[in-house]
Amino acid sequence: AEQLKKRLFEMHTLAGRFFYEALQEEEGAEARAYLQKRQMDPRMARKFGIGYSPDSYDALFRHLQEKGFKVSEILKTGLVLENKDGKGYHDRFRGRLMFPIFDVQGRVVGFGGRILAKGEPKYLNSPETILFSKSRNLYGLNFAKQTRKRELILVEGYMDMLSIYQAGFHNVVASLGTAFNQEHARTLKRFADDVILLYDSDEAGTNAALRAIPVLVKNGFHVKVTQVPDGKDPDEFIKAKGAAEFSKLLVNAVHYISFEIACIQRKYNLKNPEHRVRFATEAAEILAKLDSEIERNVYLGEVSRVTGVEEEAIRSEIRKLVQKED
Ligand code: CTP
Ligand code: MN
Ligand code: MN
Ligand code: MN
Ligand code: MN
Repeated sequence: AEQLKKRLFEMHTLAGRFFYEALQEEEGAEARAYLQKRQMDPRMARKFGIGYSPDSYDALFRHLQEKGFKVSEILKTGLVLENKDGKGYHDRFRGRLMFPIFDVQGRVVGFGGRILAKGEPKYLNSPETILFSKSRNLYGLNFAKQTRKRELILVEGYMDMLSIYQAGFHNVVASLGTAFNQEHARTLKRFADDVILLYDSDEAGTNAALRAIPVLVKNGFHVKVTQVPDGKDPDEFIKAKGAAEFSKLLVNAVHYISFEIACIQRKYNLKNPEHRVRFATEAAEILAKLDSEIERNVYLGEVSRVTGVEEEAIRSEIRKLVQKED
């Protein structure tokens, strides 16, 4: 098994190099133009090993065969697939911008490939393999850990991670669109205590952030949340506004409880007394989950102010909820 792993690492290294070189060649022109359009610094592209998968049927397959790997080994990388009719093989990634995915030691364990034009799927990723587990891996962690900062920024996408890094904030990792889970938390825990959650500000990103919060909190992270304005993502924000404005977003990150309360507040019209009651009740449920009495009091004050419901009323609601749990 260790021998197989070693062979899989070798093939991933070779594939990374193969894609990287294709990007520099004539066939990579469109992908290079795409990177330029997205304002990626060529030094970044080199550091992160960005490449291009040739738009050919089985170029990588043949390359790995030439290097002496057996078909059965090549198939285990997930980078090559058997044809449906059982005759022959084809590359998983074709005509895509390639992002190598590294493990924490910086070894290539998989790839994400972005389509250059509009089309579906926008991103294609390596399948689960012996080397690569989507629910464990955090993109960029091998670089972010070098900062030795115990505070990491957590984003959704490849380009978000890379743009933030390029803007000079190197303590950033991406969960790559998969729901942030227990295993991600365990990986992250080795390198961080504090997390600034910065998912896309569209509905999907907001909901994903709301689901990531309890996972992070349960695993002992101090969690703050921030979002870019207007339904955009961090990459778009940095390209439009620059690093200094981005830095303000980080400074303005709020305690996750404030974020949760703000999210539920949006559902209600606070001019309507009935809505104020429902909002205060829902907020009490959130506050009841806090362990610290002091924290509870701080946010209790906030909720009381916006709803006009007296603190004591909300406090007694919280008390009921806490007792129910015990
Ligand atoms: N993702 C994926 N497969 C898809 C769509 C998304 O694996 N079909 C993952 C990718 O890792 C992507 C992340 O989810 O980076 C966030 O998705 P999304 O916000 O839709 O894409 P962006 O990262 O913003 O992509 P881009 O900026 O390149 O358009
Ligand atoms: Mn830098
Ligand atoms: Mn998104
Ligand atoms: Mn984006
Ligand atoms: Mn996005």
